[in-house]
Amino acid sequence: MRGSRMNELNQAVCWVTGAAGGIGKAVCSLIIANGGHLVVSDANEAKLYELCEELKNEQTKILPIVLDVSDQQEVRVAGEKIESMFGRLDVLVNGAGISPKGENGRVLVEDMDPAIWRKVLDINLNGTFYCSQVAVKLMKKHKKGHIVNIASSAGRTYSPITGAHYAASKAAMISLTRQLAGEVGPDGIYVNAVAPGRIDTPMIWDVASEVNENAANNTPLRRLGTPEEVAKAIGFLISEQSSFITGAVIDVNGGRFMV
Ligand SMILES: NC(=O)c1ccc[n+]([C@@H]2O[C@H](COP(=O)([O-])OP(=O)(O)OC[C@H]3O[C@@H](n4cnc5c(N)ncnc54)[C@H](O)[C@@H]3O)[C@@H](O)[C@H]2O)c1
Repeated sequence: MRGSRMNELNQAVCWVTGAAGGIGKAVCSLIIANGGHLVVSDANEAKLYELCEELKNEQTKILPIVLDVSDQQEVRVAGEKIESMFGRLDVLVNGAGISPKGENGRVLVEDMDPAIWRKVLDINLNGTFYCSQVAVKLMKKHKKGHIVNIASSAGRTYSPITGAHYAASKAAMISLTRQLAGEVGPDGIYVNAVAPGRIDTPMIWDVASEVNENAANNTPLRRLGTPEEVAKAIGFLISEQSSFITGAVIDVNGGRFMV
């Protein structure tokens, strides 16, 4: 990969939250392969530094920022660090997210602890909002930028696997995507979302294996998706190839949900 870098991103500064997760890592690799620089954020400090070791190469500047996206103050400080190291921000990928389950799988609304409901909304939705606010301020200075929100097919239709907190947070992320795209389009800033189906990352390993087998069998392409397949859709959205696309949601779900 190092030897065959394309230069599509041309040294763009790209901030990925949830960078140490399955999809985040694939997005970071794609950004490096396309000649971008990275700001990598995750709440898991050990995994974040492991990631930096893995991604390290001579051409890429990598700024690690340990960050809980649900903490607005931490996000604000992250924005200051990005500005002081790079003086700009070109891409934000909002990938930090959680999808808590109970001992027997998803927890129903009637049994859900409101504290867990709030925590999921705080990380998945409010975290996306805080990071986007910081990003828009930085991007407006250069009148260009791309924000990509990693939503979910659970935010597009009923999910029998995830909890309502997760589905609601992802549906709200899609609304935020559209609203913000409308607001900042005139400033040359694109805002889009991807809505992955069942993707083989640690996030889906906390359910019985039959749950994932059933999900694969109920998918027209008869398998789970890979993190790299989600990264490719994100790569498209942050590239020149999508120059007239904003406010869109790209389904990356093997045909499991179609509109
Ligand atoms: N895997 C799937 O099937 C799937 C499907 C649809 C959408 N998604 C979404 O894709 C995104 C990435 O998920 P993944 O599948 O790679 O899961 P993952 O669990 O591998 O990665 C999520 C990452 O987010 C980090 N994180 C959690 N809370 C955080 C916080 N408060 N602040 C900062 N970082 C935090 C975790 O440490 C982890 O590294 C998530 O938003 C998830 O909801 C995943």
